[in-house]
Amino acid sequence: MDYEAFVKDQVASLKHTVGDGVAINALSGGVDSSVVTALGHRALGDRLKTVFVDSGLMREGEPEAVREVFADLGIPVTIVDARADFLSALKGLTDPEDKRNAITKTFYSTVFGKLVKETGAKFLLHGTILTDIEETVAGIKRQHNILSQVGIDPEEMYGYQVLEPLVTLRKDGVREVAAVLDLPLEITHRIPFPGPALAARIVGEVTGERLSTVRAATAVVEDELSGSGAFQYLAVLLEDKATGMREGKREFGQIIVVRSVESVDAREAAVTRVPWEVLERICRRVTGIPGVNRCLYDLTPKPPATIEYV
Ligand code: XMP
Repeated sequence: MDYEAFVKDQVASLKHTVGDGVAINALSGGVDSSVVTALGHRALGDRLKTVFVDSGLMREGEPEAVREVFADLGIPVTIVDARADFLSALKGLTDPEDKRNAITKTFYSTVFGKLVKETGAKFLLHGTILTDIEETVAGIKRQHNILSQVGIDPEEMYGYQVLEPLVTLRKDGVREVAAVLDLPLEITHRIPFPGPALAARIVGEVTGERLSTVRAATAVVEDELSGSGAFQYLAVLLEDKATGMREGKREFGQIIVVRSVESVDAREAAVTRVPWEVLERICRRVTGIPGVNRCLYDLTPKPPATIEYV
């Protein structure tokens, strides 16, 4: 496939469809939404409003880091603080599907509903790719970015039309387009990160305090394993607790699971044989996080386990 021609065609088509209107898109910093952002910006310039929705579920420093990368490319990104909306929608929820649904609904109804009204945008650019549709149809993934799956018809509900310029591509194609658009390697080679973000890594209720714990553990795991070449690595906060000793006192503390996997397309995964010294270092650092007194390494391949916990 000629990816230069693909970019040219999509730019022309976006220009034609949006006309002199305004489009909006949400950037997460993942490769798909990054490519849509760069493509949309090339077609529409400042008539594309790109927002980074700070759900409070992102990793340490992530909103600012993503904004910086795009500022360097000359693409302005507005961070929208929606932390309170997401936390209140997640309050009291423990079931994985309920949590995912609450996140999707908050994203599209509460946050986007407001933004679309404010900006007058008639189009939403979305980074859906072919694999998202295939895997959703096959029941492999509960794809957070497929609106129809959560019963939302955006045109009917909010008056905006969804445009999906990457819908004919798979991940390798998206990376090719990213290269044509000169996106930096830190974007094109980012490890996968799920739509529900850190909420996919908290078993049980998502609270501000539990998010801080899993965020700190994630920072340790990413710091220790970023050079490992593994497909994906993550930290998970369990709902169970365990007894430990700190400063001579017994405490009933939190348990963090560390997971690292090798995979080609996330359909199947083998566990990374992380060197023992690295695991010990991770354990030492993770149990230094307030309230955490155990750190486990997950030895389960996919199947039977999935990569994420929620
Ligand atoms: P599982 O946990 O099903 O995940 O083995 C397979 C891959 O998909 C990612 N993942 C998601 N990605 N929205 C996404 O965009 C989601 O809701 C979602 N759930 C899981 C996961 O990180 C892994 O790479």
